[in-house]
This record gives sequence, structure tokens and C-alpha cells, in this order.
Amino acid sequence: MKISNLPIDAPYNEGQRAWLNGFFSGMQAHMSQSAGASSSTDSRKITILYGSQTGSAESVAIDAGAIAKTYGLTPSVKSMDEVDSSALAGFEYLLIVTSTYGEGEMPDNAQMLWDSVCAEGMPSLGSVKYSVLALGDTSYDLFCQAGIDWDNKLAELGATRIYDRVNCDVDYEEPAQAWISSVIPLIAGGSGVSNAEAEVGGSNKPEYHRKNPFPAKLLVNRLLTDASSSKETRHYEISIVGSGLSYEAGDALCVVPTNCPTLVADVIKALNCNPDQEVTVNGDLIKLGDALQNQFEIKTPSKEFIEELATRSGNQELNGIITDKERLSDYLWGRDTLDLLLQNPIAEFTSAEFVSLLKPLQHRAYSISSSGKQYPETVHLTVASVRYDGFGRNHKGVCSTFLADLVDGETPVRTFFTPNKVFRVPDDNSLPMIMVGPGTGIAPFRAFLQERDFRKANGKNWLFFGDRNAATDYIYRDELEAYQASGLLTHLDLAFSRDQEAKIYVQDRMIEKGAELFQWLEQGGYFFVCGDAYRMAKDVDQALHNVIAQHGKLSDQQAIDYVNQLKKDKRYVRDVY
Ligand SMILES: Cc1cc2nc3c(=O)[nH]c(=O)nc-3n(C[C@H](O)[C@H](O)[C@H](O)COP(=O)(O)OP(=O)(O)OC[C@H]3O[C@@H](n4cnc5c(N)ncnc54)[C@H](O)[C@@H]3O)c2cc1C
Ligand SMILES: NC(=O)c1ccc[n+]([C@@H]2O[C@H](COP(=O)([O-])OP(=O)(O)OC[C@H]3O[C@@H](n4cnc5c(N)ncnc54)[C@H](OP(=O)(O)O)[C@@H]3O)[C@@H](O)[C@H]2O)c1
Ligand SMILES: Cc1cc2nc3c(=O)[nH]c(=O)nc-3n(C[C@H](O)[C@H](O)[C@H](O)COP(=O)(O)O)c2cc1C
Repeated sequence: MKISNLPIDAPYNEGQRAWLNGFFSGMQAHMSQSAGASSSTDSRKITILYGSQTGSAESVAIDAGAIAKTYGLTPSVKSMDEVDSSALAGFEYLLIVTSTYGEGEMPDNAQMLWDSVCAEGMPSLGSVKYSVLALGDTSYDLFCQAGIDWDNKLAELGATRIYDRVNCDVDYEEPAQAWISSVIPLIAGGSGVSNAEAEVGGSNKPEYHRKNPFPAKLLVNRLLTDASSSKETRHYEISIVGSGLSYEAGDALCVVPTNCPTLVADVIKALNCNPDQEVTVNGDLIKLGDALQNQFEIKTPSKEFIEELATRSGNQELNGIITDKERLSDYLWGRDTLDLLLQNPIAEFTSAEFVSLLKPLQHRAYSISSSGKQYPETVHLTVASVRYDGFGRNHKGVCSTFLADLVDGETPVRTFFTPNKVFRVPDDNSLPMIMVGPGTGIAPFRAFLQERDFRKANGKNWLFFGDRNAATDYIYRDELEAYQASGLLTHLDLAFSRDQEAKIYVQDRMIEKGAELFQWLEQGGYFFVCGDAYRMAKDVDQALHNVIAQHGKLSDQQAIDYVNQLKKDKRYVRDVY
């Protein structure tokens, strides 16, 4: 099938074209059922709002818009922070596509709209017809919570749900496609697909994407922290030569790992199974050892496995807390699937039973620490290796130690890019950039500085960086000091948390330098944050509000409004995990 004119003015990237082609092949069936359906002249307006942190929900929304257009509808695809809550009542058809972040929270670009929809005085949405597509990950307790919240809130405000919400797990493409192919024809009122004539993407279709990762070559694996450090952070350089792919500072590279062979062997031993026995995976018979090494998450225990283990083992402690999220999460902290098997030998599983309780092995995202302009052929990553001891064993994070320990120059590293369109060096080279990135949060800011260096941008740059100890964890020190000496880095404020009795964090440095920080914001400065989402990013957000209130002489509410405006202008953006 071919599609003439890509339907909306949106860039198609990272497999979107492939996805659309897949979608339209899928639509063949639908079209043949609506035989004789002619080009629709229906120009019903439909608003598609997305809440998205790393672009997946956004790309689904763009695709939904593209498909809507082929039905003769008039779609308007918008980020949630481009819309005022007062506009919602005027939308006849509203589609919401949102991911979930933090612990069941809204993605950053959805938070403001959500807050105002929840505020008192929100008018009725009695004339709005809507449907919600929720993206999430079942490994989180509050699966698809943001989508669930939107669905409930719209109903509570009187809107009419025209199609049930679909919750998507990490492999969201198929359910998203099914949702679009149900909800769009429903809105179009039964008219058939029109003008789907030219092949989507044509020769621009990228060969490598999430469903077909590029087998890249690891060129450099260098320890950044000192050998005596309490943590291990590494610098990687990965060649993308031959991929046809390019990237921008601010994007992430996703790595598809394989499990550690020693862990695989230990799990098989604990199961009393044989690595050569065959199990069925997606209809194919494969050896258990291969399946556990390449296909399944065997470190982090799945909910299904935990529940089954609790039942089969009769473990009283586990059964006593299985429905108490907080206590269960404390119990599980540091315990992996093998620990659970070893601690509950009474619970026996056949290989087929065990495999049926596992989740597919997922890629891990890494914020790229190089500029694609300065390094078009390589991607640099800054990765903290997850290693810890517990329950009499050494534990290793799957992907960080796959890169650290298992990959050599010959092992292909399966990779794909995730663009982050809002986390970007400003187009205007003269505007100030304030970057807050402790720990591995420094990664995109190394890329940003390279980017500004490459562009010979004259805007001021300020980096807040911190880690545990200056002597062992001051990573990229030479580069940062050279940037300082050259004047590229106007200010470098450091916070080493464990060099003294009382912790000093990046936000303490922000407060100390609050007057100047506020000045930079007033000069049109951008405020970027990268790193830990759960503690650091929240505390930095609070510090930002405090700085603005104090130095702008604003009330708490005025400071919130000021920050919200920064967010709306995409001048306060975060890459947090
Ligand atoms: C958009 C994005 C960008 C990111 N960028 C970066 C980056 O630039 N650099 C970077 O290093 N990471 C980054 N991450 C995090 C990265 O994706 C992985 O989550 C990280 O490398 C851990 O993955 P892993 O497979 O090694 O560990 P996993 O196998 O996923 O294991 C991690 C789990 O181990 C357990 N655990 C970890 N430490 C301990 C401990 N001390 N005690 C007990 N249990 C523990 C926890 O349950 C934790 O969830 C990013 C994440 C996202 C979403
Ligand atoms: N959500 C996640 O799963 C998640 C998030 C972030 C990092 N990680 C993983 O953790 C490992 C190490 O991460 P990392 O190097 O980025 O960071 P990190 O080692 O956790 O921390 C870097 C610095 O931030 C400090 N810090 C701790 N709490 C803070 C707070 N509330 N505000 C400001 N600073 C604070 C730390 O101090 P102290 O330690 O001395 O308190 C340390 O000095 C990596 O494997 C990474 O992938 C996981
Ligand atoms: C730090 C972090 C927190 C997340 N929290 C949740 C969560 O609480 N519930 C959930 O269902 N999914 C959660 N997810 C998964 C995302 O919603 C999922 O990966 C989604 O596809 C991302 O879409 P986006 O690229 O549009 O933001 C989280 C992901 C990250 C990286």
C-alpha cells in the first residue's frame, strides 16, 4: 500500500515510518471490509494530546494524527503543555495518549494541564467525546496510572468515553496500533481509509530502530571513577558507522543487553533444570539456556513470579506482605530472582512454568554524553555500573555490567536511538544555559558543552555537578577544567556529598548562588536537570522555586507560576530516571 503526502507536518523518525507502513498493511483488512468506501469528505476536528517524557507517546499521537487525516478528519496533535484547560470544553473529539513517570505520575509536559484540570472550578466537559491510550511498564507498581487518571478525570467532568482505554506495556506498538485502528474509524463514522496511496517514508525509512536494533561496535570502555572509589562509573564509545543513523545532543541511546552467563547457569541450577532442554518461546522451541540468556528478564523478579513463588513456597513472611506495596518493595530491595529461588527451594518450577512467569528482557536507555556534530560516527555514554553484595552473593545490574564486563570489540551491542526533542541546546546561541547534573546526570551536559563548543556559541554556560567524593568521583575533570579555562564554561559549581560530615548537594550550591541564577533566568536562560528522578530532581525543583521566590521577591504562588511559564517555554526541561 502506498500513501500520498505524509498527512501532518511532523518529522518521522526512529521507526515511525516502518510503524506506519506496518499500520497500513494492517489496515488492508479493515479496508477490504469497508469495500466501496470512498474518500471521506468528513472534516470532523479531532484533538490528540500527548503527555510524553521520552517521545514514545508523542510518536503514537503523531501516528494517530497521520491516520486520522487519511480518514478525512482534521487532526490537531499537541503536547499537553501547549493547551490551556479552558480549551478542553471546546474539543468535540479528544484523544489522550500519555505515558506515566516517577511513581505513577504525569510526564513533565502533562503536569500543568493535569493540575489545572484537577483544580476547583474546572468546567464540565459534557460535550467532549474521548478515548485514552496509556503507555507504561508493568514492572512499575502504578501501571499506566497517568492514563488511568486522565480517563477517570474526563469521565468525572462529564465527557463521554467513546472507546475504552487501552493500557500498553513496554511493547506498546501493537496495542497502540489496535487502539488507533479502532478509535479513528469510530470517530470518522465508518468512512474508509482515503488517500493511502504512497509508500510511507519511501527510501528515508531508517533501517535500524527499536524493533531492529543496530549491531554496534564498542570502541572504548574506560573507567572514569578512581579504582578506589565506592562506585564505578564508565565512559563508553560506541561506533555507529554503517548504521545510517545520526543523533543530537540530548538524545538517548538504548542498549539491548543479554544476561550474564554465570547468572543464567546459577538460575538453571537452582531450578534443577538442564540448559539444553527446550522451552517454547513465541511458538518456537529454543534451549532453556539460550532463552534465559537472550530473551527474558532474569534479574528483577516479575510480579507474576513473586506471586507464584509465594503460593508455592508458603513463605509466611512473603505471603504476609504480598499485598503491601511498601513492605514488599523493602523486602525485594536487593533480592533478585535467583535469591528468591535459593531462599525458597521448596517452590519447584519446571522450565516451562518458570519461563512463563518471566517478562521479556528490556533495553536500557542511556543519555548520550557526546555531541552528534562533534562525533558523528560514535556515541559516548556515561554509565554507573550497578554492583552490590547481598544475601551472600554479588549482584550485578543487567545492562550496565553487560557493557562493563561482557562486551568486547567483537560483541555486537544492539542499539537504537530515542530522540528527546525538548531536551536540546537552545537554537539561540546567545542564551544562557544552566545545567544541573550530579552523578551520571552529567552525561547530556558533556554533550551540550561539546555542542556549544562546536557551534562556537557565545551564550553563557553554568554546570552544577556533584558526586560522592572529589578525589575519586570527579569524572571528566580535565575536560570540565579545560572548558572553564577556555571560557566555554562560565561557572562550574561542585558538590561532593561525602567529603564532609554534612551532605552537600547540587541544590545547596544553587541556593548559595541564587541571586545570579535568578539573573540568568531573567536573561532568558534555560534550566536543565538530569539524573536521579526520585530524590535529586524533586529537591532541585524545590530549590529552583525557592531561588525564584527569594530573588524574584515573589510569593510561593508567583514562584510556581514563574516555573510553570519556564516549563511552557521549554526553558525548564528534565531528563530524569
Ligand atoms: C531516559 C534515561 C536515561 C538514562 N541515562 C543514564 C545514564 O546516562 N547513565 C546511567 O548510568 N544510567 C542511565 N539511566 C539508567 C539506565 O537506563 C539503567 O536503569 C541503569 O543502567 C541500571 O540498569 P541495569 O540493567 O544495569 O540494572 P538492572 O538490572 O535494571 O538493576 C537495577 C536494579 O537493581 C537494584 N539495585 C540497584 N542498586 C542496588 C543496591 N545498591 N542495592 C540493592 N539493590 C540495588 C534495584 O532494584 C534496581 O532497580 C537512564 C535511564 C533512563 C530512563
Ligand atoms: N531511578 C533509578 O533507578 C535510578 C536513578 C538514578 C540513578 N540510578 C542508578 O544509580 C547508579 C548511580 O547513579 P548516579 O551516579 O547517577 O548517582 P548517585 O551515585 O546515586 O548520586 C550522585 C550524587 O548525588 C547525590 N545525591 C543523593 N541524593 C541527592 C539529592 N536528594 N539531591 C541531590 N543530590 C543527591 C549523591 O550523594 P549521596 O549518595 O552521598 O547521598 C551523590 O553525591 C546508576 O546505576 C544509575 O543508573 C538509578
Ligand atoms: C523513571 C521512570 C519512571 C516510570 N514510572 C512508571 C510508572 O510509575 N508506571 C508505569 O506504568 N510506567 C512507568 N514508566 C514507564 C514509561 O511510562 C514507559 O516507558 C513509556 O513507554 C514511556 O513513554 P514516553 O517515551 O512517551 O515518555 C516509567 C519510566 C521511567 C523511565
